[in-house]
Amino acid sequence: MKNIPILVSDRGHQPTRNNILKMFDATSLGALENLSDRQRASIRGIACLFDTLGKTQFDMLTNLEIVASFGVGYDQIDAAAAAERGIMVTHTPGVLDDEVADTTIGLLLSTIREIPGAEAYLRDGRWAADGPYPLSKLTLRGRRVGIFGMGRIGHAIARRLEGFGVEIAYHNRSVIAQCGYQYFGSLVELAENVDTLINVAPATAQTRNTVDAAIFKALGHTGVFINVGRGATVVQEDLAVALHHGTIAAAGLDVYADEPDVPASLLAAPNTVLLPHIASASEHTRAAMGQLVIENLISWFDKGVPVSSVPETRHLPQKTAAI
Ligand code: NAP
Ligand code: 8YV
Repeated sequence: MKNIPILVSDRGHQPTRNNILKMFDATSLGALENLSDRQRASIRGIACLFDTLGKTQFDMLTNLEIVASFGVGYDQIDAAAAAERGIMVTHTPGVLDDEVADTTIGLLLSTIREIPGAEAYLRDGRWAADGPYPLSKLTLRGRRVGIFGMGRIGHAIARRLEGFGVEIAYHNRSVIAQCGYQYFGSLVELAENVDTLINVAPATAQTRNTVDAAIFKALGHTGVFINVGRGATVVQEDLAVALHHGTIAAAGLDVYADEPDVPASLLAAPNTVLLPHIASASEHTRAAMGQLVIENLISWFDKGVPVSSVPETRHLPQKTAAI
C-alpha cells in the first residue's frame, strides 16, 4: 500500500498511526492546509484517529474515497456530507463491546457503592482515625435498570447485568424481536419505569439533549444515571441541578458534551463518579480498534469493499475492480 497517498491524524492512538505511516504513503492530516492542489488531489483516504471532519476537508480533497474512523461512534464526522460526495466512511463496531460493557459495570458499581470515595477515605487515614466508612445509601439489590440504546454495547451490558439479578428494560426507536427485555417506546416512559438509567445511545440529531430535566424527574430520587454513550445526548446543566437538588441520587459519567471540558457544576456535584472517557481505553482493545481501521483501508484499496461501513454510506457503490 506504499503507493497509496492518504492522510493520518496526528493525535489519537499512536501505535495505529505508526503502523499506518509504515504501510501507506501517509501524510499528517494537520498538514492539509499547507498541501499544494496537486498533493491534495492525490489523497485517496483518511485514517481519522481523532479529528472532526466535514465539508471543508472533503471539498479540499477532490479524489478522497474513504475515511476510516477509529471508534464506533462517529459523530465527529459528517457522514451525510461524505455520502453526498460518494466518500465511504468506516468505523470500528464490535471489537470494543466487551471492554466498554466491563467498564460500564465498574462505573455502575463504583457509583452505587461509592468505591472511589471509600478508597479515598482509607488513603486519607480516616479509617484508622474515624472508624469504618459510612454504609452506602444505595445498593444494586432490587434495582430496575433501563438501557437507552440497546445495540451491540447495550446487549453486552445487559448480558453482564443478568448475572447481577436485576430487572432490565430498554428504549430504542424500534423494538427488538424476542430479546427478552421489556421495551418502552419513549425515553421518558423508560425512565418512569426504572430507577437506574444507562445511556449508551449514539450522538445524533435525534438524541442530542434528550436526557434532560424531565428524564431525571421521571427517574426519581433514588435514581442513578450512568453515561457511557455521548455527552451531547445529555443537558449537562439539568444533570448537575438534578444531582445538587437530590432529584436523582447519583451519577457515573465517562463522556461529556465538550471533552475534555468537564463543567464545574458536575465536578462539584454530590454522589458523582467522573471518568475521563476510558470505557474502551485498554491497550488490548485500542489495538483491536486500530487493526480494524487498517483492515478497512486495506480491504477498500485492495478489494474495493469496506469491512465495516457506517449506515449513511452503506448504500454507496463498491469499487468493482481491484486497484
Ligand atoms: P449500536 O449497536 O448502533 O447501538 C446503538 C443503539 O442506539 C441502537 O440499538 C439504536 O436502536 C439506538 N438508537 C439510535 N438512535 C436512537 C434514537 N434516536 N432513539 C432511541 N434509540 C436510538 O452502537 P454501539 O456499537 O452499541 O455503540 C453505541 C454508542 O456508544 C456509540 O455510538 C458511541 O457514542 C458510544 N460509545 C462510547 C464509548 C466510550 O468510550 N464511552 C465507547 C464505545 C462507544 P434503533 O436503531 O432501533 O433506534
Ligand atoms: C474511543 C468511543 O474513546 O468508540 C467510541 O465511540 O467513544 C471510544 O471507544 C474513541 O473512539 C477514541 O477516539
